[in-house]
Amino acid sequence: MKILVTGGAGFIGSGIADAYIRKGHEVVIIDNLSTGRAINLNPGARFIEMDINDRSIGGLFDKEKFDIVCHQAAQVDIRVSVDDPLFDARTNVLGSLNLYEASKNSGVKKIIFASSGGAVYGEQESFPAGEGHPTNPCSPYGISKLVNEKYLFYYREVCGMDFVALRYGNVYGPRQNPHGEAGVVAIFIRKMLGGEQPVIHGDGKKSRDYVYVGDVVRANLLALDDKMSGAYNVGTAIENDVNFIFAELRKLTGSICEEVHGPAKSGEQRRSVISFDKLKNNFGWQPETDFASGLEKTVEFFKRTSS
Ligand SMILES: NC(=O)c1ccc[n+]([C@@H]2O[C@H](COP(=O)([O-])OP(=O)(O)OC[C@H]3O[C@@H](n4cnc5c(N)ncnc54)[C@H](O)[C@@H]3O)[C@@H](O)[C@H]2O)c1
Repeated sequence: MKILVTGGAGFIGSGIADAYIRKGHEVVIIDNLSTGRAINLNPGARFIEMDINDRSIGGLFDKEKFDIVCHQAAQVDIRVSVDDPLFDARTNVLGSLNLYEASKNSGVKKIIFASSGGAVYGEQESFPAGEGHPTNPCSPYGISKLVNEKYLFYYREVCGMDFVALRYGNVYGPRQNPHGEAGVVAIFIRKMLGGEQPVIHGDGKKSRDYVYVGDVVRANLLALDDKMSGAYNVGTAIENDVNFIFAELRKLTGSICEEVHGPAKSGEQRRSVISFDKLKNNFGWQPETDFASGLEKTVEFFKRTSS
């Protein structure tokens, strides 16, 4: 199949592009390299440096005739979305819509969308949250992810363009940057390997569902299946807090830094953890990399690439 991966120079998108190419698909990548890096680009993909807001994107779609669009490009920083909701919406809502219109008009069969199980549910009422949990996002970023799902539902029901929204937990692993939802892992590793002192904001008991990037990539491969449609959580159903991550990374990096706490950041969710039963029961997906070995692989990556 001919697949467009937006954000294919980024942490998750580059892993997805690699996997699609390994499966023999023809892959084109669009990225504006705002947080993504050229070094992540698979040489087997055709790369077009472009912003998803570019109004000429329709011409590209008409020419290329993509079968599938795997949409990973986004403004990924929750804090940025709080400080500048207009900027967030310009990329995450209007940029996506630009892409969806071009997709619909050129006959794309399916959109695979990177949604967020950490952000669309908001403060949870039950743990772990299934896909039917109320969606009350507490950040402009979470709202933009949910709005994308609503648009995609419209495109499926009214225009016949199918979609899968994969609601990722907090994704960590090789190539990750400090901006995304699991940024704390990359920030701590870099500081510890650099002999600097990381600071834990607040009491460090804020918990998240950390899912390894390789497992997220496998879900994006399954999403190519015609039978998969709608929203699916991609997480582990296990919560870990920041204090635990700090202690684990200190062991793995051999750092001798102290556990230092600073002021809490306001407005952040306290707990987030999602169920993967729907993906498991329907498509046999389950996380394969546990947190300890995933962190080990991530530290190894940063050791290799920071020297
Ligand atoms: N990392 C996580 O924990 C996590 C959790 C839930 C959902 N997601 C979603 O997964 C997707 C990938 O995130 P990531 O962690 O790999 O982040 P990333 O920053 O590494 O990747 C995003 C990519 O999009 C590109 N991009 C940003 N704005 C663009 C624009 N206007 N036009 C073209 N390209 C643009 C960036 O250059 C980058 O390569 C995002 O949609 C993100 O919201 C990530």
